[in-house]
Amino acid sequence: MLVMDEKAKHEAMMKKIVSGEKLESPDEITQEYKEHLLTLMIAQADSELSGAYGYVPWIEGAPTMAEKLAMANIVKDEVRHGKAMYDLLERLGVDVYKLINEDKMKHRMQVFYEPIKTWEDLVMFNFLMDRAAGHQLRDAVECSWGPWSRTMLQIEKEEWMHVKHGETWVRKLAADMKTRPDIQRALDFWFPKVNKVFGKTDTESNKEYQKFKLKQRDNHDVRVSWYEEMKPLLAGYGLVLPAITVVE
Ligand SMILES: [Fe+2]
Ligand SMILES: [Fe+2]
Repeated sequence: MLVMDEKAKHEAMMKKIVSGEKLESPDEITQEYKEHLLTLMIAQADSELSGAYGYVPWIEGAPTMAEKLAMANIVKDEVRHGKAMYDLLERLGVDVYKLINEDKMKHRMQVFYEPIKTWEDLVMFNFLMDRAAGHQLRDAVECSWGPWSRTMLQIEKEEWMHVKHGETWVRKLAADMKTRPDIQRALDFWFPKVNKVFGKTDTESNKEYQKFKLKQRDNHDVRVSWYEEMKPLLAGYGLVLPAITVVE
């Protein structure tokens, strides 16, 4: 059989994407599609693993036995999410060993370099950042790469369980006047950092991702959906939500 050239492959691939069909085999995707897919999946894979590392010290730092177990479970979930993502990458021919050992810092988002210093910081990070992941994963669930889309269905459910954990704690700490200033301070510290993780607004690469249905919305639209969801919650807890900013 003749190897289909890239142009014919592109046309067949776009036809499937436009009709809403999932792509399933590396043979049916172009080099251009594959590069975009890898960029997005590597970013997610590293964030899952970095998220796990960030929570690890909080098994010891958690104030109760029940919370130590909750932290250990979140760590386990995030490592499993990372493993699922790296398995998908491996099947696309990526050298995962190199990625997680030698190149790990190349793909790390700035937010994961910020220190989580207190329990208030931890639960606010949990509230804001796992929620950010949940909103971003919605696009991945609907993406054109079938294996990624299916893997994301389960991960998304677990992210919302993490969000609920953060929510319970933020509500509790905001209700107590002794801890409300601390949880407000944690919100003011983390908000601008998580606001940035959605990425720049209206970029050329984002348009490309949308063309291939690797993303469904502009980064800023995802940021807005995250923000709007938190608005009534935080107002109900008596906390002041900083203003959303467009990232250029
Ligand atoms: Fe995760
Ligand atoms: Fe999570």
